[in-house]
Amino acid sequence: MAESLSKPVQELIVTGGELPEKYIYKKGENAATDVSYPPIEVPVIDLSLLASQSTAGEEELGKLRSALGSCGCIQAINHGMTASFLDQVHEIGKQFFALPIDEKQKYSRTVGDIEGFHAADSLLSEHQTLDWTDRLFITIYPEDKINLRFWPENPENFREILNEYTRNLSLMKELLLKSMAKSLNIEEDCFLKQYGEGAMMVAGFNFYPPCPRPDLTLGVKPHTDAATITFLLQDKEVEGLQILQDGQWFRVPIVPQAILINVGDQTEIMSNGMFKSPMHRVVTNSERGRLTLAVFCHPDAKMEIGPVEELIDKKRPRLYKTMKDYVAIYLENDQLNKRPIDAVKI
Ligand code: OGA
Ligand code: NI
Repeated sequence: MAESLSKPVQELIVTGGELPEKYIYKKGENAATDVSYPPIEVPVIDLSLLASQSTAGEEELGKLRSALGSCGCIQAINHGMTASFLDQVHEIGKQFFALPIDEKQKYSRTVGDIEGFHAADSLLSEHQTLDWTDRLFITIYPEDKINLRFWPENPENFREILNEYTRNLSLMKELLLKSMAKSLNIEEDCFLKQYGEGAMMVAGFNFYPPCPRPDLTLGVKPHTDAATITFLLQDKEVEGLQILQDGQWFRVPIVPQAILINVGDQTEIMSNGMFKSPMHRVVTNSERGRLTLAVFCHPDAKMEIGPVEELIDKKRPRLYKTMKDYVAIYLENDQLNKRPIDAVKI
């Protein structure tokens, strides 16, 4: 039983046949059915403008604030990484999942680990429908939290490319958190101050194999991210991500060379609800595999996080408690099928 629970989705395809029950949503549940979804226009933000002290920079801050306060995400361009470098980042993920199963299993998650290669089920309770995806999770920042046992040596340039990507995202993270505060007219270090020495970045490579029944499955069930912010490198050719707005699902179109950045629960908390952590999911398709890389930014688990005082007043009372280690609260509630952020609402 335990054996079949942790079987990678890629291996299910090899054995063929009908979909195992555990991946099937019942009628009327979450499954994507076969209606087509309208696209959502995610605002495109020029990061080079955010850093500039100009009128254009001010306008861009206004755009950032309104985007994060409504759909909760942006498509970031002019982030300083070339198209060919982003292709390389995508390629190391693709090459890893193309390796024989024995090779990938050298990096398998074992009980108690957050990191490692695994089918999406291993942390879930028995009552949840399983996601149609295989994953590789690795801590990429800070250096002293890196455990190379989970870092593939194949493809050969995996480590070098991922390190380079991490360096770029660290700079982007700082710029964004400062810009987010500035856009709300509060001191620019307000959000960063809650980060602490042990702040982390975790990379999740997601591979969604083609699925013979996209009408019955989901690549990832509806969720919000626990992170402060998430950087998502979408697949360049295959769509799949959807965002819920006003009770309706919209597909997120691919913007070549952009990094999709979304608010996570911890930013919704720190901003006292000014920024929204969007509900999102991933649908499957029967034709092409899809590879994405999500990088989650987390404050130090030992630090207290909570709404910034300047964002609390009579008109806007405090919406969330102050807490440590939101990720633990998130995981606990997620396994009970409860929306995690509700657990810290006042
Ligand atoms: C996630 C996620 C979206 C995607 O990993 O949390 O939402 O398109 N991924 O892979
Ligand atoms: Ni997500």
